Amino acid sequence: MSAHESAHHSPQRIGVVAESVPGETRVAATPATVRQLLALGYQVVVESGAGAASGFGDQAYLDAGAEAGAAWDADLVLKVNPPSDTEIARLRRGATVIALLAPAQSPELLTALARAGVTALALDAVPRISRAQSMDVLSSMANIAGYRAVIEAAHVFGRFFTGQVTAAGKVPPAKVLVAGAGVAGLAAIGAACSLGAVVRATDPRPEVADQVRSLGGEYLPVDVAQEAGTDGYARATSADYDRAAAELYHDQARDVDIVITTALVPGRPAPILLTAEDVAAMKPGSVVVDMAAGQGGNVEGTVPGRAVVTDNGVTLIGYTDLASRLPAQASQLFGTNLANLLKLLTPGRDGRAVIDFDDAVQRAVTVVRHDEVTWPPPPVAVSAAPAAPPGSPPPAPQPKQQRLTPARRLALTGLGMVALFLLVAFAPAQLAGNFTVFALAVVIGYYVIGKVHHALHTPLMSVTNAISGIVVIGALLQIGHESRIVTALSFVAILLTSVNIFGGFAVTRRMLSMFSKG
Ligand code: NAI
Repeated sequence: MSAHESAHHSPQRIGVVAESVPGETRVAATPATVRQLLALGYQVVVESGAGAASGFGDQAYLDAGAEAGAAWDADLVLKVNPPSDTEIARLRRGATVIALLAPAQSPELLTALARAGVTALALDAVPRISRAQSMDVLSSMANIAGYRAVIEAAHVFGRFFTGQVTAAGKVPPAKVLVAGAGVAGLAAIGAACSLGAVVRATDPRPEVADQVRSLGGEYLPVDVAQEAGTDGYARATSADYDRAAAELYHDQARDVDIVITTALVPGRPAPILLTAEDVAAMKPGSVVVDMAAGQGGNVEGTVPGRAVVTDNGVTLIGYTDLASRLPAQASQLFGTNLANLLKLLTPGRDGRAVIDFDDAVQRAVTVVRHDEVTWPPPPVAVSAAPAAPPGSPPPAPQPKQQRLTPARRLALTGLGMVALFLLVAFAPAQLAGNFTVFALAVVIGYYVIGKVHHALHTPLMSVTNAISGIVVIGALLQIGHESRIVTALSFVAILLTSVNIFGGFAVTRRMLSMFSKG
């Protein structure tokens, strides 16, 4: 389906507009991503001053190939924040707007967009599946925000993060607790570890333990079984879990210097992790960064958008614009995510966006199509969903495979035996021999490969590919044959098996290098 009904085939115009939310420093396209949009065949118009707060001047956009002018009446309008009512009025009927829209929290916005007859794509509705990672704005922003949370904490904290032994005395390293090891949490762990702090982290999803350790942190488990989600996000924690976790926070608050909280369960208010009592027990000079402040907060006493100091000298940081505090990089990653989405929407590279509702990603991001609200989308199951822990309810029943009845199986076996007998009786002796080897190879191959773990099928394939190169020996023996046809066939065989052998090893090498660090 075409995002626009016009039948002519001139390229569509993309408008990059300035943000109106006070304090917003990001812009939806940088000069570098404008080039990517142009390469997809679009015309790009950038509103004057759109990139100023990110350090991208109007001239830089012109140099990249964009035009200056009326960005609001473009066919596709790119934005960071949801459009306000006045901004919606500036959109052309039939246009497409792409921005962060928080569809779950803003039903009125969706209705307003539908009433305006525009199509709206919510960048924050990109499903967490591997294919869509390159478009996942929430992850790229959370990554930046997690890093910045550590920098904000370090800025307020009056001491080193790293431990030192100096002539003037010994300095202990700072202790950092990160609550919630999702995208933001992992970025915070990485940043705090690289500053030299002792970092601990906790999360109800036990599968993150390895990720925490690989970044240099220590994983603190809460030993209460949790139900796992299937969409890449966490589920709400149980009362038992919360009780056990409360004890952990109670103990840690007394010990650590810095707490960074990132706990979030989509569609729910943020869980309270640190109570006022926990904060009161922290050492003076400690710092808490509550990254969920904008969603209700993980810490009692944080004020969204502000830093406040408690009576016992603990600074509670509730900034909600952490990603915007690294504007150039945030815009670059945001713009790249957007360009990747447009790449998906422009299969013809002809500057015309088409939305395919059979594609799970395109379906999920489309929250309004023309005058119809199309949110929420049908659920998308994540391929990398964690394995079900023991004791969890069994998965939904799969459609049953058709089983052979014993009588049928007997008949089929009989038929196979008759065919085999006829083959051995009438075919030349060599064929019977070769066929036996082939049949045995099929049986052995079936059982060997069936016992190999799924994750190892690709390397196994590539190695067997290389082994199949034995064909090359036969071909080499035959290439000197007087028949031209045989020589030609041998040549082709050598060529193809070489591709197989070298390709097999190349693929294996690539796979193995994914597992080696550095
Ligand atoms: P995410 O969904 O990747 O991670 C959230 C993590 O919290 C998950 O690992 C989940 O298992 C964990 N969690 C859920 N319930 C928990 C509990 N009771 N105790 C401990 N952990 C729990 O989310 P992401 O992208 O990492 O974002 C984290 C938070 O940071 C969100 O609240 C997000 O809105 C916020 N954020 C804030 C920004 C700011 O400027 N302040 C900027 C970007 C994100």
